[in-house]
Parts: sequence; C-alpha cells; structure tokens
Amino acid sequence: MKVKTADGEQDVRALWFEDGELVMIDQRLLPRSLEMVRYRSSAAVAEAIRDMVTRGAPSIGAAAAYGMALAALAGEDLAEAAATIKSARPTANDLFYAVDWMASRTEEGEGPVEAAERYAAAIVEKCVAIGSHGAPLIEDGHRVMTHCNAGALATVDVGTALAPIRRAWSEGRRFMVYASETRPRLQGMQLTAWELLQEGIDHAVMVDGASGHLMRQGVDLVIVGADRVVANGDFANKIGTYEKAVLAKELDIPFYVAAPVSTFDLSTASGEDIVIEDRSPEELTVIAGTDLAPDGANVLNPAFDVTPARYVSGYITEKGILSAEEISSMGGE
Ligand code: MRU
Repeated sequence: MKVKTADGEQDVRALWFEDGELVMIDQRLLPRSLEMVRYRSSAAVAEAIRDMVTRGAPSIGAAAAYGMALAALAGEDLAEAAATIKSARPTANDLFYAVDWMASRTEEGEGPVEAAERYAAAIVEKCVAIGSHGAPLIEDGHRVMTHCNAGALATVDVGTALAPIRRAWSEGRRFMVYASETRPRLQGMQLTAWELLQEGIDHAVMVDGASGHLMRQGVDLVIVGADRVVANGDFANKIGTYEKAVLAKELDIPFYVAAPVSTFDLSTASGEDIVIEDRSPEELTVIAGTDLAPDGANVLNPAFDVTPARYVSGYITEKGILSAEEISSMGGE
C-alpha cells in the first residue's frame, strides 16, 4: 500500500519479516502516527495479536505464521508456541489455519521463515484476485458501504472488502465509499478512512447507527470482510455487520462478503458454533482516556457477530464469486 509521508510516498505493508524480526505497523496508533514495532519471540507476537497491534483475520494469520517461524528459529517447543499463538484471539479462522499450515510445512522440511514468507505472499496474491473478481460489481456513481477495516492493514496488503474498491477505482470508475466508524475500536474511522485517503478514494465516515438511514437514501452495494465463514455460508465479522446485512435484504441492496479461503472453516457446520470474542469493558467506556460510563454500569463488548448465509448475495474469494451452496463443496489448501 502506498502511504503519504512528509518526504513523498512510501510503500508499506501491515507486517513483514526483516533481520530476524517480525515488524508490524502499530495499528493502535493510526491515523495519528505511523510507527513500527519489532518482535523476536512467538509469545510477544501472540501478545501483539491479542492487543490488536495488528488485526484483521488475514494479517492475524500472517503474524501467526511469522510467530511460528520465530519460535522455530529460537528452538522453542513448537507445540507450546502453537498453543500460545492460537490462544491470542478466538474468532478469526486464519489464526488457526496459519499455525496448522506452518506446522505441516515445517514437518515437510520447508524452512520456517521461507514458509511464513510464502504464506504472507499468498495472502496478498489472493487479495489481488479478490479485487479482480469483485471490481465489476462496482459501477460509476455507486455508493458502496463497508464496515470495520478489511483493507491492506487487515490483510498484509491490498485487502479483501477494499480490494474490489481499490481495483474499480484504479480502473477509472468513480464512486463513493461509506465507511462506518466501527465502535468501539473505530477501525472504520481510523483505519479504513486512512487507507482510502492514501489513495484519494472518495469516502465518508459515518456512525454505525447511520447505516439504515443511508441505505434508505441510496446505497448500491455493501461489501464486508469476514473473520470466519463456515460450511453453510454463515459468517462472523465485526460487530454491527449483521444489522447491515438484515437492512440490505430489507432494502434490496446486494450484500457481499469478501474473504480468502484461509478464512473458511468448513469443519464448522453453522454460525451458531462460531466462538465470539468478548473484549474488555474499557474498550467501550474509556474514550480519550476518560471512563464515561457511570460506576457500576454493566457492559457487554462482543467483538463480532454472526450473519446467516441467507443475507449474503455472494462470497468474493480468490476463486471467484461463490454462492453459499458452492462453499460447502470447496476444498481447503
Ligand atoms: O477486531 P478486528 O479489527 O481484528 O476485526 C476485523 C474484522 O472484523 C474484519 O472485517 C475481518 O477480520 C476481515 S479483515 C480482511
């Protein structure tokens, strides 16, 4: 992704491996400050995933792959490292997929760093393919709604939901992106808007609760990412996705999920079995350093919700746009 800096433009990824260390953009600091953090141990990588230094299912998967490579380089117990990394967050399938993929590659004798590099490069390639399959859905003059951040920051580079948007824009079509702010962590306002600004893509940020109002005024297409898509096509994504899907159906607006197959968990039958992460109450109540909730208020902070497959018009994958029926017949890789 191209990022504007004081000296011009810089090409940067959400994370990469350099001099024996995993380097990540600290996404908690964006858009105020673009800073990198460096990691040398698998335990520190697991902590970074938990703290959301990096986030978004495919970036979490890549971080996990590099975390396993660091564990192998340091001669750590790989089963322990795998368990620690897998315990970082429960919902994104990519985390589990990446750790298992690394185990199978290294068992077959592939070098751990080479395997992790290949894993991260494959994600970016898949995102490029998602962009080319999804871009024809976006026409000149469209208003496209998205939620959370399913862009380059969430996927090493390029994005899933943002991939068709980037591609359609680069092909010369002009349209408007509505990015919902995504309470409580504000990935839509802080990360998606930042990415779109870097590329000069027209957009507006709005509160999550404005989705219905704006959809009724005229939204042509909704594209979101996913943390886990299960065998019947139900999927988990950032809290607030489900409302958008129901509203889109009510208002006859096409609703697409963009995700690589590493996000597909075909061993889980339906969305009811997806584990939803609950995060700390403070994420919600503390705003700019001040706890704004009354003392003693109970707080619920589920980080994801599940949207049933019946609300989804199609799944934009690296293999093309699939229906829910096609998903169950898809093989893993
Ligand atoms: O809690 P986050 O920021 O990791 O949640 C991210 C999302 O919900 C994304 O939409 C999803 O991971 C897809 S990223 C391509």
